[in-house]
Amino acid sequence: MQLRYSFRLYPTRGQQAALGRAFGCAHVVYNDAVRARRTARENKLPFPRAGELSRRLITEAKKTPQRAWLGEVSSVVLQQSLRDAESAYSNFFASLKGERKGPRLGEPSFKSRKDTRQAIRFTANARWTHRRRTPPAPQDRTEGAEHQRRAGVITQALEAVDQFELARDCERIADQLIDAFADSGRAELMAAFAHALPMRAAVQFCGMPAGSTDTEQLVDDLRISLDAAEGDDPVAAYGRVGARIQQLVKEKRESPGADVTSRMLAHPAGLTDEEVVQDLISVIAAAQQPTANWICNTLRLLLTDERFALNVSGGRLSVGQALNEVLWLDTPTQNFIGRWAVRNTQLGGRQIRAGDCLVLGLAAANTDPQIWPDSQVCAENSAHLSFSNGEHRCPYPAPLLADVIARTAVETLLERLPDLVLAVEPQELTWRPSIWMRGLTALPVQFTPVSH
Ligand code: HEM
Repeated sequence: MQLRYSFRLYPTRGQQAALGRAFGCAHVVYNDAVRARRTARENKLPFPRAGELSRRLITEAKKTPQRAWLGEVSSVVLQQSLRDAESAYSNFFASLKGERKGPRLGEPSFKSRKDTRQAIRFTANARWTHRRRTPPAPQDRTEGAEHQRRAGVITQALEAVDQFELARDCERIADQLIDAFADSGRAELMAAFAHALPMRAAVQFCGMPAGSTDTEQLVDDLRISLDAAEGDDPVAAYGRVGARIQQLVKEKRESPGADVTSRMLAHPAGLTDEEVVQDLISVIAAAQQPTANWICNTLRLLLTDERFALNVSGGRLSVGQALNEVLWLDTPTQNFIGRWAVRNTQLGGRQIRAGDCLVLGLAAANTDPQIWPDSQVCAENSAHLSFSNGEHRCPYPAPLLADVIARTAVETLLERLPDLVLAVEPQELTWRPSIWMRGLTALPVQFTPVSH
């Protein structure tokens, strides 16, 4: 007979936040394990073993931007969560074979976020205190004075980007991308234009030479690590991105130029090379995804809404209106995850407890019926919350740069291909299955072929 003790714990605020993180991460690893096994079964692949899942879902996942936060909790908690998924499967198989007493067990299912009972398991030698990770967390995952130090460097480095030069660069990048498909009369604009352009613009303002082979390789690796397609290896791609940005930082230390990287290195805050590498990757990632979807959602509006269709080819004004309307009604960053309450509080009549994870519903805030009582959103001002608010908001110069990139992209495309129309019916366009980012899976168009 074994003894069991029950304790009631009264964690401090910091401990509550750490526990909240550990619960969340254990939950994600469990669900990732169930998903990996279901996918293997659907694709008729061998059942993935525990060792392989531990490598893929914990060790390698921590190296990706999507799962880097797993590194913030004890790995014992993550391993134990994998073992729980493992036991659920062996019980299920034993039950199928009739080797297990009691009622028939169903296949393990995903754990729901709504379940209020959460469990994590530690072992005697698990690490309880949070140790600082190496490499350091990027600035968007730091807080207080440390966040201000890191975000201040980014803000000043972005502030010095010359907006006219950026517009010229974006026009050149847009022209090159359009040249690649202009003579065919058809294109899928998400891949061939909307995603590629902001990535190239960001890499360029960080100081990578345009058009060189390793810039092309970096652009491709960034695409894979941010938005992997079937068959891509995002972990390997992210590793190459880190190595190339490290090399860029080394080159700019030796020979600085008029670019974001050199300005970050020269900043009196004295960031280490490692911190600059981390922050450059987050700047490029933060710039690419939302700006790409802003461009695509604006093109969709211009091509599907009659109010814009009438004067789209001539009307620069209407491009500006469409860009702004999209930020109100189809904003790229719909919801933003990753805030934990540090104390008990109330918000909008709801109780929030210290340690609760909060999701910022930016799209919902923009269409709040309390600000728009007639349910008619008037998109003529720009007081939306699409760039968030508060200390972590999209840093001041970034929305201006995003506007230059998106506006130049859309205007150049419409100038070059004035009779651009959708190649499918508007209702056939599909949104990507994401609750965070609003963007299309594809934007197929056609136009009169032009040679350049
Ligand atoms: C040149 C383009 C852009 C750059 C360089 C950029 C950069 C950044 C950076 C560095 C952050 C992290 C801020 C921090 O933690 O202190 C951030 C956050 C954010 N950005 Fe941007 N961004 C760009 C475009 C956009 C666009 C087009 C949108 C949406 C329309 C957007 C929406 C946001 C949001 C919602 C956040 C999160 C703020 C929060 O945590 O509450 N950004 N951006």
